[in-house]
Amino acid sequence: MLREFDAIFIGALGDPRVPDNRHARDILLGTRFELDLYVNYRPVKLLHERLCPLKGRGPEDVDFVVFRENTEGVYVGVGGRFKPGTDDEIAIQEEINTYKGVHRIIRHAFEFAKARGLTKVCMADKSNAMTAGHALWQRVFRELAPQYPGIEATHYYIDALAMYLVLDPKPFQVIVTNNLFGDIITDLAATFQGGLGMAASGNIHPGKTSMFEPVHGSAPKFAGKNVANPIGAIASAALMLDTLGLKDEAAAIDRAIADAVVAGECTADVGGSLGTREAGNAIVQRLTHHGVRDNQLNTDKDQTGGGEKGRKLS
Ligand code: IPM
Ligand code: MN
Repeated sequence: MLREFDAIFIGALGDPRVPDNRHARDILLGTRFELDLYVNYRPVKLLHERLCPLKGRGPEDVDFVVFRENTEGVYVGVGGRFKPGTDDEIAIQEEINTYKGVHRIIRHAFEFAKARGLTKVCMADKSNAMTAGHALWQRVFRELAPQYPGIEATHYYIDALAMYLVLDPKPFQVIVTNNLFGDIITDLAATFQGGLGMAASGNIHPGKTSMFEPVHGSAPKFAGKNVANPIGAIASAALMLDTLGLKDEAAAIDRAIADAVVAGECTADVGGSLGTREAGNAIVQRLTHHGVRDNQLNTDKDQTGGGEKGRKLS
């Protein structure tokens, strides 16, 4: 059913009443895999220095994107448990890396850098320990890098990347890595921008139905208390509009978010004192000031431009 839409905007998932959060995994990973959303796009941008836990870092130091491979790696669910629950238990979880899968995500990272006039792409793997699977990442990176002469291609082992990011995030522009490492590094990177409550993501198959969601989960301990930060979700909506070609609308939302955060009109996790609803309203008010009329954000209308009448936003 989802395939007929240009984009899917999804809320945070997870409910402790469901054993091991199975539904969140099934819906999220199910959508990523079934729609072949191989690009997990996670921008990391610091809006105000007070939000960054790194000493002395401000907005000019933290502005990069992570491309996480989103359809392979250890997430494929290949493996199993033999003699579970016994002292003889064997647990196997395979990591799948295909030439096609590695190639398309690394190429996407380079193409993104090229299109935006960026000059640095960093690929991170663990090819010193995962000598077979990550040799493929090495091969593809070496194959593609020379095709982008204006772009400095750097490789770090993922452990070193974690260290360098904390020491100084400034040199990083585009990071590309596998599914699991991308998962881990984007939680780390989210803290640079004020925490998981700020982080947006897109699950993208260029030219096809894509899915946008905050990086965070449902934070059950905050449910119904009007305290959760709405920015991760709102910024994901901006990412969605940007990907759909609605550049001005996306920029207007990003500006409204930045203005509200700088003014301290936000939730407590990012230094404000507003509730979820009020923090959301602070952004909406600025949007209205910036001249985006309500009907420009009306999801009932075909906003995709040039699409057939059947295409719609979900
Ligand atoms: C994420 C989440 C998911 C992931 C979980 C909920 C399966 O942590 O989107 O980063 O690991 O991909
Ligand atoms: Mn995660």
